[in-house]
Amino acid sequence: MAFQIAATRPLPGPFEFPELDAKVRFGPERGFATRGELLEFVRGAHGLVTWVSEKVDDALLDAAGAQLKVVANFAVGYDNIDVAACRRRGVIVTNTPDAVTEGTADCAFMLLLAGARRLAHADRFARSGEWERHGTLSPTELIGRPVAGRTLLIVGAGRIGFATALRGIGWGMRVLYVARHVKPDFEFAPLNARRVELDEGLREADFVSIHTPLTPETRHLINARRLALMKPTAVLVNTSRGAVVDEAALAAALKEGRLFAAGLDVFEQEPKIHPALKELDNVVLTPHYGSANLDSRAAMTRICAENIRAVLSGKPPVTPVEG
Ligand code: 8YV
Repeated sequence: MAFQIAATRPLPGPFEFPELDAKVRFGPERGFATRGELLEFVRGAHGLVTWVSEKVDDALLDAAGAQLKVVANFAVGYDNIDVAACRRRGVIVTNTPDAVTEGTADCAFMLLLAGARRLAHADRFARSGEWERHGTLSPTELIGRPVAGRTLLIVGAGRIGFATALRGIGWGMRVLYVARHVKPDFEFAPLNARRVELDEGLREADFVSIHTPLTPETRHLINARRLALMKPTAVLVNTSRGAVVDEAALAAALKEGRLFAAGLDVFEQEPKIHPALKELDNVVLTPHYGSANLDSRAAMTRICAENIRAVLSGKPPVTPVEG
């Protein structure tokens, strides 16, 4: 009997299994309109590729059936997956570490610069005709924050945090990091970063970039109290998971000028964005597309295929999730 491999979305790059007797099917570009359609789609699959917006829980595992062997999440983060439920059924979960690192670090640094230089505001001003009506800018207008030589706090010192901090070296930034344990790759050259407690780092930093996974411990890690520790001139960047930041508290801090700007790629209720954030000029918003460059996405496809190939051939997966 042929294996059934179901990817809930079309994937960039080749996703083929010539060495297996396998039938591959893809879901629609924008995802299934209803949960019911998704559950119908996964029925009978031996290998599944899932996307961050799709909850892999008991209901989905039941719908897929007892033949399911592997869920390959098309992301490094896997907070959409009930890993314990998968383990109870002997279903292996994998993710795509490394593949997303450079794309997401580019996105974080882009948002950092965009926040510092008021890109959202400047772009709207330039394209709306307001600039023509207003006349050339005066030396006092649209002034941003300097980046070169400033202090960057990395919250969550994994691969993406490291790659983001490396980009900061080009701007001569001083790097602080928050992690449960000392990270030698952060401590030594070229970063020469200093490990700090979160509250201390928030007080000191000019730029804060969040790279921690979403877990019960990190939900609303950046809350109203912690936002109040930050400098009013600071910029907050989040490319990890929206719920690590209390969005309502962030919107209030930005609105009241208690924070200079924010750059956000991720949101608490994707694809919804807190309405108060959408009103603000000092926040740059992107639609959770951190890893969306050709190399990262092609590598993510390749890693998902390698994991499915390995598990369906009775071999260990390449990048299992241990959680
Ligand atoms: C997203 C991500 O998958 O790897 C992750 O955890 O969040 C990203 O790679 C992608 O940007 C689309 O949501």
